[in-house]
Amino acid sequence: MDIKSSILVTGGAGYIGSHTAVALVEAGFRVVLLDNLCNSELSAVEGVRSLVNAGRGASVEVPFYEVDCRDREGVSEVFRSELKKGTRITGVIHFAALKAVGESVEKPDLYYDNNIGGTKVLLDVMKEFEVESLVFSSSCTVYGEPKIVPVDENSPFLPSESPYGFTKQECEKLIEEHSKTNDIPKLNSALLRYFNPIGAHPSSLIGESPKGIPNNLVPYLCLSAAGTISPLTVFGTDYPTPDGSCVRDYLHVMDLAEAHVAAIQYLIAKSLSSDLTGSSHTRAFNLGTGSGVSVLEVIAAFEKATGIPVPHVLGKRREGDVVSIWAEASRAKSELQWHATRSLEEALKDAWNWQKKSK
Ligand code: NAD
Ligand code: WQD
Repeated sequence: MDIKSSILVTGGAGYIGSHTAVALVEAGFRVVLLDNLCNSELSAVEGVRSLVNAGRGASVEVPFYEVDCRDREGVSEVFRSELKKGTRITGVIHFAALKAVGESVEKPDLYYDNNIGGTKVLLDVMKEFEVESLVFSSSCTVYGEPKIVPVDENSPFLPSESPYGFTKQECEKLIEEHSKTNDIPKLNSALLRYFNPIGAHPSSLIGESPKGIPNNLVPYLCLSAAGTISPLTVFGTDYPTPDGSCVRDYLHVMDLAEAHVAAIQYLIAKSLSSDLTGSSHTRAFNLGTGSGVSVLEVIAAFEKATGIPVPHVLGKRREGDVVSIWAEASRAKSELQWHATRSLEEALKDAWNWQKKSK
């Protein structure tokens, strides 16, 4: 049988995973999706399938497995099932995690078990099946409240503000440790530290679907603009920033998806260029635009991009918020040949179109 290779996308039914799956297929990869659907719906998998098949003669298969990353036998079975079909998983992009900062404070053990436990199982199964390339979803939250902005990848990990942030720091250390102690098979990994992903696929077939009332700025802002939720509260206007509101680095999820394609290509090249005795390689990359934007600027950009006013009130600071953080993103540019190309307005317009379609 002619063995083909594919990339396993854990958390593939989620927000960033679904956009990345589409970008991978567009770049010529075969993808296999795994998700336990604890924070997503099967409709996202259908959205991925529609997008990758749009305008194509032949049908592109996107296998989906409803499996929990902590279920060692279940995850191994995904690799075995694919082998039986003539497909070898040669790389993994690990998105699957719980990500609600507030919930992590209430249920830290759930976050440790799900995020760290799931990563441990995945690393073991990758070793068993001799998979050498791992892209890990990390976060700028590993930097805490940085002393200097923009932050580069050498900035220290500061005590994390939440159990969620702690799981990202621990998973990064776990992967690094695993790489150091496992040269046969090697583990080459890219630790991708995302800043603030926003927006949706321009088709509006996939996007961000938070359950309940959103905590993140852009999903809340869109619901506020749609009039389906109380006005947006700007959390703090007395910060030491140009307009008093917090500053972040917002990047389009389509740019972020393309960064994952660049990262997996980088790891495959690393694998091919080193011989069997070459040692494992781990590299962290900031993924952001390199520009900081305030909450009030996001509101103004949304109104400019869509022509829709955003009902909002100026409120008190939110506990635990970092004042200002944005990325020093030159490492991704020079080593992955990736940089964000889409504007804030484009991202907000796509977020709004997704909101209108999904209501
Ligand atoms: P998401 O919740 O939309 O996607 C995560 C997916 O993982 C969901 O579909 C969920 O059902 C699945 N999942 C969770 N635990 C699982 C488990 N044990 N087994 C199998 N599937 C499981 O979130 P997202 O925004 O797409 O985030 C993807 C990754 O990026 C996460 O690791 C998150 O921590 C990280 N990240 C996100 C952001 C952001 O702002 N969205 C920023 C930085 C980092
Ligand atoms: C952005 C800005 C708020 C809601 C979180 C996680 C972080 C990472 C990204 C995963 C802040 C302000 C928000 C609202 C507001 N995720 N805001 N009114 O806090 O930068 O980061 O997501 O790794 O770990 O903590 O993102 O979208 O919640 O907030 O004024 O109703 O918008 O104060 O300044 P944040 P966010």
